Amino acid sequence: MNSEFSAVPITKHVYWVGAIDWNIRDFHGYATSRGTTYNAYLIMDKKITLIDTVKRPFFPEMLARIRSVVDPSKIDIIVSNHAEMDHSGSLPEAIELIRPEQVYASSMGTAALQDHFHWKTKVLPVKDQEKISLGELELQFFETRMLHWPDSMFTWIAKEKLLFSQDAFGMHLASARRFADELPETRLIEEGAKYFANILLPYAPLIPKLIERCRQLGLNAEIIAPDHGPIFRQDLGAVLERYLQWSAQKPTDKIVIVYDTMWESTHMLARQLEEQFQRLGHPVRVLNLHVAHRSDVITELLDAGAICVGSPTLNNQMFPTLADFLTYAAGLKPQHLLGLAFGSYGWSGESIKKVADALTSMGVEVLGSCKCKYRPDEETRTRCRHLATELSNALRAKLEQG
Ligand code: FEO
Repeated sequence: MNSEFSAVPITKHVYWVGAIDWNIRDFHGYATSRGTTYNAYLIMDKKITLIDTVKRPFFPEMLARIRSVVDPSKIDIIVSNHAEMDHSGSLPEAIELIRPEQVYASSMGTAALQDHFHWKTKVLPVKDQEKISLGELELQFFETRMLHWPDSMFTWIAKEKLLFSQDAFGMHLASARRFADELPETRLIEEGAKYFANILLPYAPLIPKLIERCRQLGLNAEIIAPDHGPIFRQDLGAVLERYLQWSAQKPTDKIVIVYDTMWESTHMLARQLEEQFQRLGHPVRVLNLHVAHRSDVITELLDAGAICVGSPTLNNQMFPTLADFLTYAAGLKPQHLLGLAFGSYGWSGESIKKVADALTSMGVEVLGSCKCKYRPDEETRTRCRHLATELSNALRAKLEQG
């Protein structure tokens, strides 16, 4: 069938019919420097089924890919695994065009879609572990509440050992390749970690429980088809292991220094801390928020043991980029970090305490602070070095205790 875009076969019955967004660079505050994909899947069985849709502007692309396999009006069922608009934004148009027999979502998904669209469309709520037959294949639904929205669910095809995992195991990575094994592993790990840190981190403690539950329920997947990025069909053990590792947020001796600066004084303190950590043998990342994006800083924290946050005082406040970063980080709730606050000031110097308080309220164990009036002198530099050494000793002691 001639079509502007083509579907990509995944299994005998399942096709990828999603869309590639090469140009997106900001996904609700997350810098998506490699774009993304919105994955939707077509299941060709007696009951033809569409799993998820795509972000609204990409509806024509999804439709064209479906048309390369089947007339969209032949689709009988639509399943919405996740109500967020990058997957449900074109659901109303899809329903209007397709007029499916049935639309399914989790009970929370049904409510969320209603709250989004204020529509008269009837969406049938499915229960956790409920099954529906498509003919040769059977779909089974698993609620995955708070991974990462209350409505989120997985859809499982036992006969094909295929798990539609919605956002879980996804990544923001636009590519002409549909399968993870066609892409460099380093890129998959880098973008997978960034996605985990910026989307799933607040719910990390739920992930080992979910993976264990999937094992107990016999979901021995051979294909994981997420809603963003490539599809995994090889070495799924490594994919799960990476999720368990990121969920644990086990601290290492890596230290992240994040700051901004007005007249280079806070920058000089940052460099002094960096120098001392280097001398003490720590891997260090230095990120100036003037050029580093908040989502890259969070990614660096995934395997860090400590964070040092520096801000000048501007009009009695912390610098705006620090307020931005600390607000973002507080929502993502990174765990198990030690910390320091530092910064420069001219006459009042509130920013350092504000930074320390913000770190403490997000669960960072703040060991001290270092500030300088106008310009760091030798006494301030010495104080910085001592503080860095104290932090290093505390971190090493913590790592030794396991
Ligand atoms: Fe990809 Fe939670 O949406």
